Amino acid sequence: MSRARITHRHRALLIGLGAVALLIVGAVAGVALLLSGAYSTAATKQHFKVTYRLLELGLRYSVASNADEIHAPHSDRGGDVNVGQACYRQYCQQCHGAPGIARDGMGRGQLPSPGHLSQSAREWSAAELFYVTQQGIRMSGMPAWQYRISEEGLWSTVAFLKKMPELSRAGYEAMTAEGAQIDCPRAAAERPYTLERTKTMMLQYACHNCHQIDGLVGPVTFVGPDLRGWRQRGYIGGVLPNTRENLVKWLLDPQAVSPQSLMPDMELAEAHAHDIARYLFEES
Ligand code: HEC
Ligand code: HEC
Repeated sequence: MSRARITHRHRALLIGLGAVALLIVGAVAGVALLLSGAYSTAATKQHFKVTYRLLELGLRYSVASNADEIHAPHSDRGGDVNVGQACYRQYCQQCHGAPGIARDGMGRGQLPSPGHLSQSAREWSAAELFYVTQQGIRMSGMPAWQYRISEEGLWSTVAFLKKMPELSRAGYEAMTAEGAQIDCPRAAAERPYTLERTKTMMLQYACHNCHQIDGLVGPVTFVGPDLRGWRQRGYIGGVLPNTRENLVKWLLDPQAVSPQSLMPDMELAEAHAHDIARYLFEES
């Protein structure tokens, strides 16, 4: 047994232990900073320049790698620009503005601030624009549209984004006038039921903001009844016998069942209501 080999092993061990110690100290310092209240969460305080650039870079890399598997239909543009403009007008303009049109109040008070999308549309591929629009950007205020706009509608939105850099304000307004009757196509999940997708769906409909639900991470909330252990429940809203069919009925229109109910009509797509009812019966 050579001496050199032992010291070599010792050194590796020491480096390993040092790295673990550094990680622990870093984690403890991070938690201490959060608990001290010194870290500002105000939307009036911009990041440091270096933090901002790093986050921006992280977003670009994450989007590029996740969009890698997505293929745009037909051509780079795909989709119907007029339908896309209707979607943009209904769902994006308030935050992102449009050619010659400012974003409205909600889009102004946010940090990160939703950018004008003409430049992103030029620089990003159709697949990347699709990915970001469908999945949103966590902790930024950019919503995910997967459970609101159909896949075809999302590709149409992308097609419109690709056209937007060429548009003047007059051109945009002409499209608005022409497409006034077009409704952005709503998501209708006809795909097979999966547990993970249904959990995401419930988070996307914000059920967890008012209810505690088995399997979902969210606030400790008492706005609506605790839905844990749902299967054992006798009645829905105190009036309907608790069956899966009745639950679908409730989810689609709570006020039709109980007019005084404070449970809002969440504008669920019917297929989504079936998936959620199945989840509550099978998983809780
Ligand atoms: C509630 C406000 C809001 C709405 C509505 C909204 N967005 Fe966003 N969007 C944001 C925010 C905030 C960001 C993140 C900006 C950042 O990180 O720099 C963002 C980022 C993006 C990006 C990435 C752009 C880039 O260069 O970083 C795209 C693409 C995008 N949004 C598309 C859309 C589309 C398409 C719609 C409509 C279907 C939409 N957004 C609706 C707030 C919104
Ligand atoms: C803004 C708050 C809010 C949101 C969001 C919300 N609910 Fe409710 N929900 C309520 C309230 C309040 C009640 C009680 C209504 C009543 O009893 O009249 C209720 C009742 C229910 C009930 C019947 C509970 C019982 O004890 O009989 C179910 C099931 C339910 N909600 C499921 C959902 C699902 C699934 C979602 C998401 C798609 C959702 N809720 C979103 C507030 C909310």
